[in-house]
Amino acid sequence: MKRFLFLLLAMAALYTVQARERKCFDADWRFVLADSAHMADVDYNDSHWRKLSLPHDWAIEGDFYASNPSGAGGGALPGGVGWYRKTFSIPLTPSQDGGTSCFIEFDGVYMNSTVYVNGQKVGFRPYGYSSFEYDITEYLKKGENIIAVRVDNSDQPNSRWYSGCGIYRHVWLTQTEHTHVAHWGTYVTSSLSKNNKTATFNVMVEVANKTKDTQITNILLDAEGKEIAKSNGSTLQVKNPHLWTLDNPYIYKVRTEIRVGDKIVDVYETNTGVRSFRFDPKAGFSLNSVPVKINGVCEHHDFGCLGAALNEDALHRKLVKLKAMGVNAIRSSHNPPAPELLNMCDTMGLIVMDESFDMWRRKKTQNDYARFFDEWHERDLSDLVKRDRNHPCILMWSIGNEVLEQWSSADADELTLEQANLILNAGHDASTLAHGEEMTPNALLTQHLANIIKKYDKTRPITAGCNEPDPKNHLFKSGAIDIIGFNYHHQWIKDVPKNFPNKPFIMSESVSALQTRGYYMMPSDSIYVAPKEWWMPYTDPSFMCSAYDNMHASWSSTHEQTWDVVKHTPYVGGQFIWTGFDYIGEPTPYGFPARSSYFGIIDLAGFPKDIYYMYQSEWTNKPVLHLFPHWNWLPGQEIDMWCYYNNADEVELYVNGKSQGVRRKADSHVYHVSWRVKYEPGEVKVVARKAAVKNGYPEIVATQTIKTAGQPDHLRLTTDYKGKTTTFVNVEVVDKDGNLCPWAENQVFFETTGGLEIIGVDNGSQFSMERFKDTKRKAFMGKCMVAVSGKGELKASTFGMKETTHIIK
Ligand code: GAL
Repeated sequence: MKRFLFLLLAMAALYTVQARERKCFDADWRFVLADSAHMADVDYNDSHWRKLSLPHDWAIEGDFYASNPSGAGGGALPGGVGWYRKTFSIPLTPSQDGGTSCFIEFDGVYMNSTVYVNGQKVGFRPYGYSSFEYDITEYLKKGENIIAVRVDNSDQPNSRWYSGCGIYRHVWLTQTEHTHVAHWGTYVTSSLSKNNKTATFNVMVEVANKTKDTQITNILLDAEGKEIAKSNGSTLQVKNPHLWTLDNPYIYKVRTEIRVGDKIVDVYETNTGVRSFRFDPKAGFSLNSVPVKINGVCEHHDFGCLGAALNEDALHRKLVKLKAMGVNAIRSSHNPPAPELLNMCDTMGLIVMDESFDMWRRKKTQNDYARFFDEWHERDLSDLVKRDRNHPCILMWSIGNEVLEQWSSADADELTLEQANLILNAGHDASTLAHGEEMTPNALLTQHLANIIKKYDKTRPITAGCNEPDPKNHLFKSGAIDIIGFNYHHQWIKDVPKNFPNKPFIMSESVSALQTRGYYMMPSDSIYVAPKEWWMPYTDPSFMCSAYDNMHASWSSTHEQTWDVVKHTPYVGGQFIWTGFDYIGEPTPYGFPARSSYFGIIDLAGFPKDIYYMYQSEWTNKPVLHLFPHWNWLPGQEIDMWCYYNNADEVELYVNGKSQGVRRKADSHVYHVSWRVKYEPGEVKVVARKAAVKNGYPEIVATQTIKTAGQPDHLRLTTDYKGKTTTFVNVEVVDKDGNLCPWAENQVFFETTGGLEIIGVDNGSQFSMERFKDTKRKAFMGKCMVAVSGKGELKASTFGMKETTHIIK
């Protein structure tokens, strides 16, 4: 019996050191928004610091001030220096006992993070979007250890959008044996035989502290986890492979086992997928030989009222909403995304353009990454590729967005952040372009960056977001850009085959239309350009932009204009619209108190703007009939009613039962139909019909009625999205019959019982000065939203109305 017990214990001990242990290290930190050199000290008393769990963003907890150094362009929220500390102990003391190694991995800290373990400095990392790992084996001791992290986001502005502040992504603690798979140490590629009959996987493994008797075994697992191939070499084969497609993004796993002698010392798993793709100069993009238009959106990393702090539910909600609209691609503008975004895109069937930088050596804002570029770009770019290259969703790398190196000289030294955002889209003098055949320094830099990527991955093309469409752009002249990517300039697309013979092409960024949900500027057939020129101020006391697709900046277009060109030009692989969701910061065309963007197809609170349905009608097979705006106007007022539809041949509008005429989309260049009608209270109704006659009449396929709302009567709460821990609840101010009151601005108060916690509130207004972390919110155009964590009862109330209760199970 004793022997048996001993054996069991020995096996358990073996197990703990056998497989690597990677633990989430998010819980039980302490935080303070202050700075002192002593805060790294082991005996520093942090008992008065706030307790919290990561991911965390301290800026989102603050108030909006014009004087906050980030400016409106950065979201007008605070920056500063913050410290995080955590006490921990780990069962095996590394190196002394058993030879384990211990690593701490940060998925992202914005920015300038310095990590200390037991009072000793372990490392510094300036770029706030890079993931990084430190080997802390030698810094650890038996019993209690202290990790302290200083985060410095005080030198602002350093970003053209809201960055957030703090350890805003996950942290991981990994223990391995001395010999183990190195950090990001596997690289799995695959190729397909003719007719896709066989997939051959090539697995490269980097082993740290490899000994003479180290052996590597790679095992291929299918999506159910069943072993389907095994090899002691680097090649694995599978017959009749499942392909990674947008509808069925099949994920294989490679399990790598490292043996030293007879003992398995490490097991490491890598997700992968099998697909072929091509960017063709004539035919555009195809995935697995099937032509596909890339219907992409650009996304910044914030989650509205939850700030930059990574929340998987909020991220998933974003992607679900975008996918339902027909989006099939995401550009991680303009920086490496959270690893979780890539995992979700892998499994949801979304293509990713993985982007590295918004600037190279030339700064766009006073304190941005340009100051670190020379020293850090090689490390940051290599790390991006090494971290991300196994994701099947990534189909292209971007080495930069609108970098000023496109031209010979363009300095933003004297500019404010708002001006810097605008100058990017200004015309540049031809003398600043590359003339002659000789490689310019900027072209050489482009080649250098492309080579860094190619060193770690040759399976994907390289692109860059270029707002200089002239082929004499230094980046294009370098020859290192595999896919020509234009930001805007849809008028230049017709010249692409002439200017860039035999080069594939995409719109790396497009549209930048300006919209506020629920606000309409008429007449709707006038196009409102704001600002008229990039350098001209624009002001309107409403601080709103029109939600008809009739407003954009001087460098950009309406949604319909760009989509029309992309749709009808076969060599355009697709586009990445600026942007899917509104984001905090960059409130073009306004300044403070506007503090979040107007570019989104979906507002910051998650409510789709009307244009969402135009894309859905074009990009999906779902039946769409979307009539807007609302029906609460002044009697006699002339109102333009627009309708997006598909799946029907004609639509007819009725005002209080009187026909206002039938409309048909004349051809495939028409995306909406409209009527100009006189408002009278009552109802407006649209009927969609198929031309085919059924029982003597054209068949009605859908109808939509909007009624004039009466006085606000009660609040309607609906679950917008329920995640694993976070639930988003929409609140609408409605009349007694349940019609949305489109102008309502009621102050809504929230209360929770049970284990439910309010973690954010928003209403999609781009100029509200209300806090995102609060228990109350004003309705904006009749709606607001509350994000809650946990389960329990949510109560919403407003003056003069009965309380509404919503239960989160
Ligand atoms: C682009 C830029 C984006 C955003 C956009 C607004 O020039 O790449 O980051 O600033 O303009 O229109």
